[in-house]
Amino acid sequence: MHKKMSANRAQEKRQAKEAEHRQAWAHYQSGVHSVGLFRYVHLGLWYFLRAIGLYKRGILNALDIRIKEHTVKLSRLPRQFDGYRILHISDLHIGGIPGLTERICTLLETISADACVFTGDYGFAFYDPPEKLVRHMRAIIRSIRVNDGMFGVLGNHDSSDLLPVLEELGVKILMNQTAAIRRGMAQLWFIGLDDCHHFQAHDLDYALQEANILSGECKIFLIHSPEFIPQASEAGMDFYLCGHCHGGQIRVPALGALINNARCKRAYTDGHWRYNRMAGFTHRGTGTSCVPVRFNCPPEMVVHTLRCGEN
Ligand SMILES: [Fe+2]
Repeated sequence: MHKKMSANRAQEKRQAKEAEHRQAWAHYQSGVHSVGLFRYVHLGLWYFLRAIGLYKRGILNALDIRIKEHTVKLSRLPRQFDGYRILHISDLHIGGIPGLTERICTLLETISADACVFTGDYGFAFYDPPEKLVRHMRAIIRSIRVNDGMFGVLGNHDSSDLLPVLEELGVKILMNQTAAIRRGMAQLWFIGLDDCHHFQAHDLDYALQEANILSGECKIFLIHSPEFIPQASEAGMDFYLCGHCHGGQIRVPALGALINNARCKRAYTDGHWRYNRMAGFTHRGTGTSCVPVRFNCPPEMVVHTLRCGEN
């Protein structure tokens, strides 16, 4: 089912970047660094929302998680997988808002699906140590009811130290790797790449050369951000699942999201979309990061129902 990368080149690549970044953080804490500006913008927003009395409202909005049903037609989906349901959780950012984990667990008890995917960003801060997250992740994973397993990728907030912890809890983290679900003679592939936004540790060629995927087989593509859409389409992916943009978290009526933090067209930063023959869905996030508030942009957990056919 799940292919382990023996030398795990992707992990080495990410760890090198993480070491660089930890140095940058140390540098930032001792002086001026570009990360500082990022933090000051968030602090400014935090003070502003408190001053105008909207901070608590924003936190309540961030706990108001919606369950979204999304149906997608895929022309290469084997009929054995017609009606297959994938629970999609993204950007949990746990640890930022008290009560978030409990709220997620309560909702998960009501969802039925065949498989579950996580598209990265598990902790609230950047590179939260695994021990800070494990209790929350254990509770969330125990509340998920699927028969075909859980698959995930890491995001730009995540340290690779989290990988063994998530795997121990039962989530197959695909670091430029693949996994297949079988129904009789038919297969549904999951192809997961490491983060292409910050770490640039994605390697699609490596993932594909490790697997023996036939050209006509249906491929579900997992990655943290929507910044790899043209390349994934070119490589023949059928359904692209990502998160990262949070729908902007704060959406202004008539204007939409003020910030998406992604190097791609706005059309690909929220909800369902198509790019050539590839379908895609950019998740708004189940949690909330940086400033833990949302306005006009409820957090979500999405169930994708796969159907055979042309869209
Ligand atoms: Fe995120």
